[in-house]
Amino acid sequence: MNVMIYKDKETASKAAATIIAAQILQKPNSVLGLATGGSPVLTYQNLVKLYEEGVISFADVISFNLDEYIGLDHEHNQSYFAFMQQNLFNFVDIPDGQYFVPSGVSEDPELECVEYEEKIEAYGGIDLQVLGLGGNGHIGFNEPANHFAPTTHVVDLTEETIEANSRFFTSKEEVPTKAISMGTGSIMKARKILLLAFGKGKAEAVANMVNGRISPQCQASLLQVHPDVTVLIDEEAAANL
Ligand code: F6R
Repeated sequence: MNVMIYKDKETASKAAATIIAAQILQKPNSVLGLATGGSPVLTYQNLVKLYEEGVISFADVISFNLDEYIGLDHEHNQSYFAFMQQNLFNFVDIPDGQYFVPSGVSEDPELECVEYEEKIEAYGGIDLQVLGLGGNGHIGFNEPANHFAPTTHVVDLTEETIEANSRFFTSKEEVPTKAISMGTGSIMKARKILLLAFGKGKAEAVANMVNGRISPQCQASLLQVHPDVTVLIDEEAAANL
């Protein structure tokens, strides 16, 4: 793992955007894997800036998001589809139909998972996967468990994740309890991985991911055996390294 420690998340996010921009410049039709949540927001803002400056175009980019809440349709303000529009897609030239987020309201969520995985494969797999990190070591919504999920699947969110994500809702009761998430196995298939983690709340998970035993109790620890992972963190998140 290539661990890069920056003084703050602003500097780290600029570096992250530069890495993603370099990927798009090298391969304009890159398949990106994208994350929601707080960690990538500044990175997306920097990408919008690079787009506005004419440095990069998303015209040929394809993207797949890691996850979506079950029960929220894409029009819902807190859906991850809406998040991506609000934070990136509305401000760049990616055409509709070139960005994919699992449907949270499919009548058959299991089938939705199979089809999502097949669609990623049909586009040739993910070139660059952007990840955040849960305080419990989750990536995507792959929560601590006894195994690593190989593919996109339906997950029950842990109490800790529901609590953490309640900051985006008016009350904790509104946070969905299930989601569709790419598996840790799907994430491992990406050719390159860029993980962002900021703040002291991530310090323990970062240490477990980088130096801990590989265990599904810390899903991100599997990234230790991926050949091309860059971890961008601030000083607070690096505190336990
Ligand atoms: C989001 C996702 C999650 C988050 C993680 C960290 O699509 O899959 O794994 O990346 O929960 O969230 P933040 O960045 O809000 O701390």
